[in-house]
Amino acid sequence: MTTPPPATFDLASVDHVLKTTRSVRRRLDLDRPVPATLIREALDIALQAPTGANTQTWRFMVITDPVKRAKIADYYRLAAEAYVGGKTGLSRTGVTMMREYASSDLRQQQREAMMKSGGFLMENLQRVPVMIIPCIEGRFEQDDVFTQASMWGSILPATWSLMLALRARRIASAWTTLHLLYEREISEMLGIPADFTQAALLPVAWLTGGDLKPAVRLPLETVTYWDQWDG
Ligand SMILES: Cc1cc2nc3c(=O)[nH]c(=O)nc-3n(C[C@H](O)[C@H](O)[C@H](O)COP(=O)(O)O)c2cc1C
Repeated sequence: MTTPPPATFDLASVDHVLKTTRSVRRRLDLDRPVPATLIREALDIALQAPTGANTQTWRFMVITDPVKRAKIADYYRLAAEAYVGGKTGLSRTGVTMMREYASSDLRQQQREAMMKSGGFLMENLQRVPVMIIPCIEGRFEQDDVFTQASMWGSILPATWSLMLALRARRIASAWTTLHLLYEREISEMLGIPADFTQAALLPVAWLTGGDLKPAVRLPLETVTYWDQWDG
């Protein structure tokens, strides 16, 4: 039997936010400004995330300037075209994000909706009222796995907390990384120092329409091992 949560803690609401923080692309309100106070509130919550050795070397670039948003969107489109065209996205060990699955596979069935939604964001990114680029101090491409995991682990949890905190305020966002193919150009434009690494780009806007739903994912048993990795 699980221990009941303390009375001050609304577990159902917390679970709802955790389960329904989707990558929102088509339901971003492109016309309604997002108040800076809400962005600050959510960022303040993000700062509660873990940070390797308490370094707190995270930085958050908030972009509202329409000219800068348009330039970022142009780079994003260039990157998306290269990615969809198969010109990038393959790791040195051959792991690719652009995988094909069997037609019976859930991920293949979900693919068309993802591509459509991704296409919408690609065409409209410049219209999203706020973009947030989380950054971490250091460049670690050439480092060992311990260092890389420590650096990414010091910015990605905060980024996810940020999405959750926004979502709890009915502000939608999406986790995106395509713009990183032009990371250097975008850093130069925004004045991000060369020794900082960008981790993601969150388009941020009010959510339109009704509530969001939990995603259908591969079953837990197929992605979990206890004591022994079998199979
Ligand atoms: C590391 C990472 C990179 C991603 N990059 C992009 C991106 O560049 N553009 C985009 O539209 N979605 C991007 N996504 C969103 C995924 O497509 C999305 O998480 C996935 O389809 C599952 O949908 P959901 O987040 O709504 O559950 C990214 C997600 C992750 C975790």
